[in-house]
Amino acid sequence: MGEEGEEYLFKVVIIGDSAVGKSNLLSRYTANEFNINSKATIGVEFQTQSMGIDGKEVKAQIWDTAGQERFRAVTSAYYRGAVGALVVYDISRMTTFESIDRWLQELNTHSDTTVVKMLVGNKSDLENIRQVSVEEAQTFAEENSLFFIETSALDATNVKRAFEIVIKEIY
Ligand code: GTP
Ligand code: MG
Repeated sequence: MGEEGEEYLFKVVIIGDSAVGKSNLLSRYTANEFNINSKATIGVEFQTQSMGIDGKEVKAQIWDTAGQERFRAVTSAYYRGAVGALVVYDISRMTTFESIDRWLQELNTHSDTTVVKMLVGNKSDLENIRQVSVEEAQTFAEENSLFFIETSALDATNVKRAFEIVIKEIY
């Protein structure tokens, strides 16, 4: 891809319904921060985070937008140039899992088929009120050629792993 000494910069987008925890996954990954009272995102935000792969520095520019239609930015601009995507639902709310189809359709409409896609079941700490089983999410992921992981932005389980699997796969 790049030449010797060149930096690698990959654009990764996070999508999914409102309040599934997209912004907290991003802040957990890039700043090790979690906000219990986080407000709905308006427009677009992004953060960059570096990781080392094979002795090279790889930077991911990770984009986060609103799950709510009325707060969203221009869709085509959001997806433009993306090479990875985290498609997030909340394991304690079935409706957010049912929306995944729609998010995938939007992603496929606006991006290349080669985009690396990770299905992310967030809020794994809410096991006691789980509505989406690991098995059904796993099956869905297999049927749609997605990677799959469950995370918790709250207790930090698998957050780093979720991003790094995508970034390594892109690289
Ligand atoms: P929009 O910006 O509206 O699209 O929402 P979002 O997907 O960015 O959700 P956000 O990160 O703002 O989180 C929504 C709520 O869920 C907040 O109250 C968070 O504290 C909470 N939350 C996020 N991640 C987790 C998690 O892993 N576990 C638990 N228990 N709560 C979480
Ligand atoms: Mg947000």
